[in-house]
Amino acid sequence: MSLSRLFTLIILAALVGLQFISSVAGHTAMWHPSMYGFNVTDQTFPYDNRPVSPLTNFTFSQWWFHGHLCFPPNEGDIFDLPAGQPATTELACNKGATSFFASSEGGDIRTSNPNDVCPNSGTDAFHTKGFEDLTGCALAIAYNSDATQVQPEDFTVFSVNQTCVWTRFTDFQVPAKMPPCPAGGCTCAFFWIHSPDSGGEQNYMNGFKCNVTGTTSTVPVAAPKVARRCGADSANGKWHASPGNCTYGAKLPLYWFQAERNNMFEDTYAPPFYTDLYEFRDGPQDDIFEDSYLFLPDPSPTAPLPVLNTTASTSSTRRRSASKQRHWKSRVSF
Ligand SMILES: *[C@@H]1O[C@H](CO)[C@@H](O)[C@H](O)[C@H]1NC(C)=O
Ligand SMILES: *[C@@H]1O[C@H](CO)[C@@H](O)[C@H](O)[C@H]1NC(C)=O
Ligand SMILES: *[C@@H]1O[C@H](CO)[C@@H](O)[C@H](O)[C@H]1NC(C)=O
Ligand SMILES: *[C@@H]1O[C@H](CO)[C@@H](O)[C@H](O)[C@H]1NC(C)=O
Ligand SMILES: *[C@@H]1O[C@H](CO)[C@@H](O)[C@H](O)[C@H]1NC(C)=O
Ligand SMILES: *[C@@H]1O[C@H](CO)[C@@H](O)[C@H](O)[C@H]1NC(C)=O
Repeated sequence: MSLSRLFTLIILAALVGLQFISSVAGHTAMWHPSMYGFNVTDQTFPYDNRPVSPLTNFTFSQWWFHGHLCFPPNEGDIFDLPAGQPATTELACNKGATSFFASSEGGDIRTSNPNDVCPNSGTDAFHTKGFEDLTGCALAIAYNSDATQVQPEDFTVFSVNQTCVWTRFTDFQVPAKMPPCPAGGCTCAFFWIHSPDSGGEQNYMNGFKCNVTGTTSTVPVAAPKVARRCGADSANGKWHASPGNCTYGAKLPLYWFQAERNNMFEDTYAPPFYTDLYEFRDGPQDDIFEDSYLFLPDPSPTAPLPVLNTTASTSSTRRRSASKQRHWKSRVSF
């Protein structure tokens, strides 16, 4: 290796180190006593595996449930998902910045702003350059009360907040048609991948015990499929959406940039997101049920568009389908 190349490497290493130090307090987790790893500190594992630590290039047992399956919640701690209503989560870079500060190593670090995700840090601490740069988070559910049995293929994204992680209290709308969970409840997880201009290839996953309440439907969630990149993507020179290319209906979370069991293979500069880019609409995913579609073709850039079962859909999917038809018509006339 030449001397100049060695110097370049040293400088690069120093820069990476600096970035790590400045952002180490800033990563974000969903905090709740129903989560796996609620009390995991930076001392629990041989490496810093706090719930807020990002997951990149990890083995399956390291990234799945954040490696926290052996740190289950206490009996009875469960996160309620009221069908047809918002579920409010608390997202923060430190447990001390949430309502659950009492069991945090550093105690209460909340500020006068109740929505402070990361007290005493800039927004880059939670990986965004600003509101326009937000890339969305998702909640997914598996209808199985035994988290140790849940596999990546079992999770369906049921709610998205595209303006996550802007505020500590973040609402996720629960689809009105969510069916009841089995005895013992369901298993859920929070997922987030941030924008590429505010840090590296970082995935976030926190698992928790959940339960759907106030149900009015028993139609099961359909088998989830892999999401596809189909929205307009001006950052990568793609000016028009490709609606036939979208996966509609029940979709898996985005598993990206781990050493094992990825379902997304996008490169560093074009991460997959929980946004329209992958047909993850903002709010409840109302079209994830077995009876949601009358016609659901395999997606491809030239595939025909699916047809919603309007008898089965809720008013929000009907509205969405009407606005989409307008959008598609205007596209067809190009
Ligand atoms: C992932 O980890 C392996 C083994 O530690 C390493 O060889 C590889 O370079 C890493 N890949 C990335 C993209 O960081
Ligand atoms: C977390 O720690 C608090 C305080 O020590 C304790 O009361 C609680 O039971 C612990 N929860 C779990 C899931 O270990
Ligand atoms: C996202 O969360 C924010 C903050 O709680 C909330 O104001 C907004 O309505 C949520 N968006 C959706 C689509 O639920
Ligand atoms: C889940 O919610 C239903 C409806 O409220 C309730 O009957 C059931 O006991 C709950 N299950 C758990 C494990 O809390
Ligand atoms: C269609 O989706 C695939 C899978 O995500 C993606 O690789 C491809 O670029 C997309 N094509 C178009 C035209 O959107
Ligand atoms: C459409 O929805 C209705 C109401 O849930 C249901 O009875 C019917 O079987 C659905 N059609 C299809 C093709 O799934």
